[in-house]
Amino acid sequence: MARQLQLNLDRQSTTPLIEQLRSGVKSMIEAGALRPGAPLPSSRLLAADLRVARSVVVEAYQQLTAEGYLISVDRSGTRVANLASAQDGAVTGVSAVGTVSARWDLRTGLADVSGFPRAEWLTCLRRVLQTATPEHLEYPALAGVAELRSELTSYLGRVRAVRTTADTLMATAGFAQGLALLSNMLLDLGHATVAVEDPGHPGQRRFLEDIGLRPVPVPVDDEGIDVRALAASEARAVLVTPVHQFPTGVVLSESRRTALVAWARQVDGLIVEDDYDAEFWFDDAERPPAVQGLAPERVVYGGSASKTLAPGLRLGWLAVPAHLTPALERARARQDLGSSTIDQLGYAHFIATGRLERHLRRMRRRYRERLEAFTAAVANLLPDFRLIGSPAGLHTFLAIPPYVDERALVDAAARLGVVVRGADHFACHHRPPTPGLVVGYAIHSRDSLVGAAAALAAAVRMIRTG
Ligand SMILES: Cc1ncc(COP(=O)(O)O)c(C=O)c1O
Repeated sequence: MARQLQLNLDRQSTTPLIEQLRSGVKSMIEAGALRPGAPLPSSRLLAADLRVARSVVVEAYQQLTAEGYLISVDRSGTRVANLASAQDGAVTGVSAVGTVSARWDLRTGLADVSGFPRAEWLTCLRRVLQTATPEHLEYPALAGVAELRSELTSYLGRVRAVRTTADTLMATAGFAQGLALLSNMLLDLGHATVAVEDPGHPGQRRFLEDIGLRPVPVPVDDEGIDVRALAASEARAVLVTPVHQFPTGVVLSESRRTALVAWARQVDGLIVEDDYDAEFWFDDAERPPAVQGLAPERVVYGGSASKTLAPGLRLGWLAVPAHLTPALERARARQDLGSSTIDQLGYAHFIATGRLERHLRRMRRRYRERLEAFTAAVANLLPDFRLIGSPAGLHTFLAIPPYVDERALVDAAARLGVVVRGADHFACHHRPPTPGLVVGYAIHSRDSLVGAAAALAAAVRMIRTG
């Protein structure tokens, strides 16, 4: 059998080798084993591999090219043709856009990865690869390498007043994996429901549901989650974004923070604090510390490098109450064998050498300027609109005036090339505190944000003039 292709030639057969090769490759393409764009081995390599004359391969490739199955690409050799392209159509993933291409993608969840500190990260990885011990290359501890847990413990204590130890901290593949692990742990502990903020993150709601927990939507107002409504639900665990509520941007008020912790103590419950974008805080008012510091025995603190560095790193962490560490490890032991040691060590070095702080200073400046540009453009071009919530994170909430219908605005904006989501997209059972647009501004230049605001103003005019 060939090693370059999963293909056998039958030398006893009366079918010529060229035909066997041609039909073998064609079947692989039709079955989807060879995907559009996939490179084929060079004729020289494949001929050696199959122990046939090179001309056999060349001829088979030529026939398949003539039939439209293969294409010959300068320098990069022969590849599988994109047979489906004609009937596929464009897969935009954004149905509201229809046929208009998105000039401004204002959806949330995007960090400006063009600012990713490639050279600095490479320096850290190089250093890790030079100094990693053989133990570092073995299976890691489930909770992560000691170096990262220790760095994160002191970093989170310093910048977020999180009270944790390396023993109660777990490195995860982003907050998403942390949430999956916590959900499984909660199921193990007998929870059937988890309260979630409404409006909140629809992806997280679905995530909980898929794992087998029932999300209980609890309304959010201008002080954050309504703790009275939470107390009236049967849930004993809640997922919250206290510092920059997703998506409204409101900050959990001081009295609600106290009430939330009191609730958790009263019901023997658990608060899961998703501190997803706290590093970016542009307000003159002081940034509230993590709720976890108020009650480390009742709060799981979750963080992530997705906003600060890049979501592609899949780096996150959980600081858990000490008594829950064994349950969390048991949940994890059922799922994987830990996450990449090399990346964890790289991140530990990135923090320890002050590179994270430097990078954050750069990115804070960049994001602050962008948010200020958008804020000024809204004041100029959309004077009846209001930005609510704290100026923080990588998105902002643009409250729309009563005379503009949210859905109509989202649709009109899409027709003008602005992809943006209305508050309604994030709501579950309760109406959002106010209709509005949730604007992810992080990836756009200041000029582009001014253009987006102008396009939104044009969309408003379009609706009003019918
Ligand atoms: C509310 C919220 N939490 C957490 C995250 C980060 O998730 P992860 O760390 O898995 O990338 C995001 C990312 O967009 C988010 O919007």
